[in-house]
Amino acid sequence: MESFYVTLLTLFILLVSIFLHFLFFAKKSSGTAPLPPGKTGYPFVGESLEFLSTGWKGHPEKFIFDRITKYSSTVFRTHLLGEKAAVFCGAGGNKFLFSNENKLVQAWWPSSVDKVFPSSTQTSSKEEAIKMRRMLPNFFKPEALQRYVGIMDHIARRHFADSWENKEEVVTFPLTKNFTFWLAIRLFVSIEDPEMVEKFAEPFNLLASGLISIPIDLPGTPFHKAIKSSNLIRKELRLIIKQRKIDLAEGKASPTQDILSHMLLTSDESGKFMEEHDIADKILGLLIGGHDTASSACAFIVKYLAELPEIYDGVYKEQMEIANSKPEGELLNWDDVQKMRYSWNVACEVLRLAPPLQGAFREALSDFMYNGFSIPKGWKIYWSANSTHRNPEVFPEPLKFDPSRFEGSGPAPYTFVPFGGGPRMCPGKEYARLEILVFMHHLVKRFKWEKMIPDEKIVVDPMPIPAKGLPVRLFPHKA
Ligand code: HEM
Repeated sequence: MESFYVTLLTLFILLVSIFLHFLFFAKKSSGTAPLPPGKTGYPFVGESLEFLSTGWKGHPEKFIFDRITKYSSTVFRTHLLGEKAAVFCGAGGNKFLFSNENKLVQAWWPSSVDKVFPSSTQTSSKEEAIKMRRMLPNFFKPEALQRYVGIMDHIARRHFADSWENKEEVVTFPLTKNFTFWLAIRLFVSIEDPEMVEKFAEPFNLLASGLISIPIDLPGTPFHKAIKSSNLIRKELRLIIKQRKIDLAEGKASPTQDILSHMLLTSDESGKFMEEHDIADKILGLLIGGHDTASSACAFIVKYLAELPEIYDGVYKEQMEIANSKPEGELLNWDDVQKMRYSWNVACEVLRLAPPLQGAFREALSDFMYNGFSIPKGWKIYWSANSTHRNPEVFPEPLKFDPSRFEGSGPAPYTFVPFGGGPRMCPGKEYARLEILVFMHHLVKRFKWEKMIPDEKIVVDPMPIPAKGLPVRLFPHKA
């Protein structure tokens, strides 16, 4: 009898063990899948310094490719700007993130950005981004864009006459910034005053550099300078907004003349209008997003066209055919820009090699699996343009400048992502295309040029820029 009880007890223990084993095993396979491989670096700063410093040294792709080689080609773990993070790599990573926007992931900006744009902290970056997108369709609709070509051409003529013509040497980057800023401030808030451009130039530079930085608010840090600059610019913008309200009330300004009028006169679903400080933040965001990116692209076009005479010749030929087909003095129009196919392929190759935005962050909305790895809720996820743009399996001989990559159907989906993708793809893409092409038209029509510092260093902070601003010697075409 005793042996019967012992056998029964043994059987019972065995069954319980098997049950517990299955319970444990099942839990392990669903809930404790491994985190992506990688390391989290030092406390608090994590790997932020390596992340930022590879950019300062001009090779932001190094941070990504070192870890792709060491850990995994699809996703690795890190710790950036105070947050646990995973970096998704390659076309698969881009596709996953862009297709799961607001399902598994949502917009996220580092806390440095939230502090520089205070209205985001009252709600959230996500809500602010939604508000921003609601304001934009009218500004970027095709009829409006067609109208901007003439205005852009007009401003470009004045810009080249004032800042490039009759000069033997110029420093490119401050000029391309000046050009794209003029356009933005004219088209977003209808300002044409040269003094205003001067007044804003320095604070805008400081703001852009401190935006993606380690959020330490002490005198002298890039972050501290960015906050100070943001306050200063927003104060100026609020004066402009107040004046516009008066002008709209008195019929001196038109409700459709620019983004500012639109923001003042558009209410949300509950009939609420945006507060002045909120509008100032949105305009500031657009001015930053809408001019720094394009100015970096224009500067790199000048760099590559100086280095590659045969590419310059192709662009020159195309632009002169357009210039010669028009009566003297007539402004460029939409049809002219559609003919600039080769020039746009060249610009795309520039955006591939020197993407103005290196990538962007998302936040995981829930725990999910990606390629066999577990991504916990709340982790930040970074997609990086360089993980495809400079990958030899995606773009063979990635360092070779080859605009023919964009002929025909062009690069495979999710591989060429200078403007991002999915629902959050850059809404200013078409606007940027127009301003870049108008810039190229005026540049090559007037000059050939050579670089004055042959191997000038590139710094990425957070946009790529030539360290000395790309000084060039100009050779005007003979009339
Ligand atoms: C060469 C020029 C430009 C480049 C390379 C560029 C790049 C990008 C990229 C990569 C994103 C997506 C970021 C993400 O995935 O979170 C983005 C978003 C955005 N861009 Fe651009 N951009 C350019 C020009 C412009 C211009 C001219 C404007 C405005 C006039 C603009 C306004 C915006 C806005 C408002 C967003 C945020 C969209 C959202 O969060 O839903 N961009 N841009």
